[in-house]
Amino acid sequence: MKIVTIVGARPQFIKAAAVSRVIRTEINEVLIHTGQHYDNNMSEIFFQELNIPEPNYNLNVGSESHARQTGHMMIGIEDILIKEKPDAVMIYGDTNSTLAGALAAVKLHIPIIHVEAGLRSFNLKMPEEQNRILTDRISTILFCPTVIACNNLKAEGITKNVHDVGDVMCDAVLHYEKHMEKKSKEYFFNNLLDLDDNVVPVTDHWYLATIHRAENTGEIVKIKNILEALDKLDKPVIFPVHPRIRRTILELNELNQYNNIRFVQPIGYIEMLYFTKHATKIITDSGGLQKESYILRTPCITVRPQTEWVETLDGNLNVLTEPDTNEIIDKVFHTQNDFNKYKPHYGNGDSAKKILQIIRNTI
Ligand code: UD1
Repeated sequence: MKIVTIVGARPQFIKAAAVSRVIRTEINEVLIHTGQHYDNNMSEIFFQELNIPEPNYNLNVGSESHARQTGHMMIGIEDILIKEKPDAVMIYGDTNSTLAGALAAVKLHIPIIHVEAGLRSFNLKMPEEQNRILTDRISTILFCPTVIACNNLKAEGITKNVHDVGDVMCDAVLHYEKHMEKKSKEYFFNNLLDLDDNVVPVTDHWYLATIHRAENTGEIVKIKNILEALDKLDKPVIFPVHPRIRRTILELNELNQYNNIRFVQPIGYIEMLYFTKHATKIITDSGGLQKESYILRTPCITVRPQTEWVETLDGNLNVLTEPDTNEIIDKVFHTQNDFNKYKPHYGNGDSAKKILQIIRNTI
């Protein structure tokens, strides 16, 4: 069986690493990198660190408006699908690379396998929500990470070939956590570079923050409110800066001097697991990091009005906040976490195996 897998953005490299390792034992996988993420520390570092096979094709689309970026991906993907004639196309999550792959495949009548199907924020202004709803509607096999995701699909009338297999990101966390434990604290801090390429000093305790969603980074006042909150916390905040907001951060920092925030360059996956696991708390708007902190039992504060990962909210292990300075500070200092409420909602690390078995029986 031949499957063409399409990846393009950072979280997809992590998901594909977990799944490819398992499916390649039986399936001929052809890998397309759309080039949506192209900086070394947004892309290549993951291929090396996670041992992902070299992509067979790189479309090098780079950054453009949503329609242009998605359109250019579709054109490139269509040519490859016509040439490769796969039995199915596999796509992950909710990015523009996901939707481009789905649209190119459905028009050629190639079955679509969607990993991480059924998630909903019910906010159609988010590009991710647009991408997921459209992708799910035209997918052939839908692998849901949670029961709630399966129920979301049911509510939309999608019931055929829907499977709750757990979350492939949980596979990745449990697998790479072992690699992380072999390395020292000094090793991880030595790999933490600030935006001027200087190594960041070691600290005993820290918060970890990431902010990159369009809904938070589109308006300067929101970013400012968030940074002001982080600057007032009682321990240093390690803040890997997504390229989308690098320039804004540099300008704001020059004006305001956020001395409590250690702005650093994007870091690799194993580094991220280390700084997440040992952080006092996480402040983020990333979907992946909400789950990683849940699985690693670090309390999380999510700067968004809603989350697709509602299971993490039980016991206040994750709480939502507006991008409001006082609300963020209040939630960081005063949220009581009840870890007795923790449940393995995202599986036990065997999602990729379940995916392989179902593909074998369906395609
Ligand atoms: C994308 C996904 C988002 C996911 C995120 C993970 C969509 C609509 N969004 O958002 O769901 O959470 O990836 O990181 O697909 N840039 C660089 N170098 C890079 C990549 C991006 O400089 O390697 C800059 C460019 O200025 C670009 C901007 O970041 O315009 C946004 O990149 P894009 O890929 O469009 O979306 P993300 O914000 O990364």
